[in-house]
Amino acid sequence: MSAKKIFILGGSGFVGGHLVRRLSTDGHEVTVATRYAPAARHLSIVPGVRIRQCRPHDLESLTGALEGHDLVINLVGILNERGFGGKGFRRAHVELVEKIIIACEAGRVGQMIQMSSINAGEGSSHYLKSRGQAEQLVRQADSGGLLDTAIFRPSTIFGPDDSFLNRFAGLLKISPLLPLARPNARFAPVYVGDVVEAFARVIAGKRLGGETYELCGSEVWSLKELVQWLRDQLGLRRLVVGLPDPIGRAQGMAFNLVPGKPFSSDNFKSLLLDSVCTDNGFERLGIEPWGMAELAPTWLGANGSQGPVSRDRS
Ligand SMILES: NC(=O)c1ccc[n+]([C@@H]2O[C@H](COP(=O)([O-])OP(=O)(O)OC[C@H]3O[C@@H](n4cnc5c(N)ncnc54)[C@H](OP(=O)(O)O)[C@@H]3O)[C@@H](O)[C@H]2O)c1
Repeated sequence: MSAKKIFILGGSGFVGGHLVRRLSTDGHEVTVATRYAPAARHLSIVPGVRIRQCRPHDLESLTGALEGHDLVINLVGILNERGFGGKGFRRAHVELVEKIIIACEAGRVGQMIQMSSINAGEGSSHYLKSRGQAEQLVRQADSGGLLDTAIFRPSTIFGPDDSFLNRFAGLLKISPLLPLARPNARFAPVYVGDVVEAFARVIAGKRLGGETYELCGSEVWSLKELVQWLRDQLGLRRLVVGLPDPIGRAQGMAFNLVPGKPFSSDNFKSLLLDSVCTDNGFERLGIEPWGMAELAPTWLGANGSQGPVSRDRS
């Protein structure tokens, strides 16, 4: 496998942290682009990794930073926008991808991997709509011969440092009762190590080939089952209550107004679709994915084999 010069946008986050380490182990040279260099400080000690502060929406800054790389990976994504109406989602997901494609052409970068999301382009949420629009831009660039591309569409990603299980764990710890919107929405949580393995295998191939890979773990859960399981793993006695849709929708509307939007109307709309695969891309990549119940207990609470370690850490 030949080593590549890889440029990662959004590499300072959860998936980025795992991916950057793996790419470094595989011998690639990695540039982590960040809007604020201290956000990526934890990666500066990884061999072969360079942190580069840049303004991703400034085409000149982006082109300058991208030049000299073989492959760009876009991990930028937001679950909620600051305002309303979808403008923030379009900027973070669509306009940024537009600029990356232009910058790749100007900077002679030949390959791009786009991190998207399962159900991109479906349903009524601004999140999923903007994800779908970004995918379309990437496919057009591929079919127009501008770029060799691949798209990943994971279900919810879990790992010791994720924001999904950790957020629910945090809520379960502080509240005797957890009201859940869309309790029957289904997920196939996918382990971050498997996602990273998928990236590594695709990058090791000669061409990305315009492929789209849905990525799902081996188990399908309803949201309520998943939170109840997590509660039990943490050894907590808590009531998890599924909300009927009208109340779940109202919960989204109420949380729209809470700073940081821990939940929103747009999240509610995304949850109207199940986060499960129709064609799990792991099969094509020869990867057998983990399920959450098989793996997560090793780092979760009281019943996990590392329970005492988790407690010390927290
Ligand atoms: N985690 C999941 O369960 C999951 C599931 C499906 C899809 N995905 C997608 O996978 C990707 C990585 O997920 P993640 O969990 O690692 O996300 P994350 O931890 O939130 O990291 C995303 C990174 O994107 C950058 N970013 C955030 N908002 C931005 C904006 N408005 N403009 C430019 N850059 C911005 C930030 O980097 P800087 O602050 O350093 O610039 C941030 O570290 C995202 O596209 C996400 O939507 C994740």
